[in-house]
Amino acid sequence: MLDLVAKCEQEHGFDYTPLDIILEKYKGQKGAIIPILQAIQGEYGYLPREALEYAAKKLRLPVSRLYGVATFYAQFHLNPRGKNIIRVCQGTACHVRGGARILETLKEQLQLEVGGTTADLKFTLESVACIGACGLAPAVMINDDTYGRLTPEKIREILQNY
Ligand code: FES
Repeated sequence: MLDLVAKCEQEHGFDYTPLDIILEKYKGQKGAIIPILQAIQGEYGYLPREALEYAAKKLRLPVSRLYGVATFYAQFHLNPRGKNIIRVCQGTACHVRGGARILETLKEQLQLEVGGTTADLKFTLESVACIGACGLAPAVMINDDTYGRLTPEKIREILQNY
């Protein structure tokens, strides 16, 4: 009889090997759902449905339990994310200084809605409440870099560098 990994791989064409290593590491540890989900996301970049279903089977938990945790915490993502994460500040300071125009420019340039990822997985567009750079409003973060005092022209130029 095929073991669970081989059987699932045959059915879904999904690489379960890293998942097995993660689950082995946390075997028998109660309350390890969050670190397990963090490790899965670290491995795949998000929480693939196949991974959650497989983990639930191995953990002998209903998959709804894993989805419950995954959807409760903002750190978890159920869809693939881009290589570059763009966070457009829409906090008060940025809002009064034209943050909405910056967001519109990015939506138009990337042909994305907030929360979306480009088909080539290059960019994910997010909107956030404040990135702690109010003095530089309107501001945007791309990965770990902060850009401030933006105009639609400036953000278009910056985007070219990614
Ligand atoms: S409101 Fe945008 S950085 Fe604070």
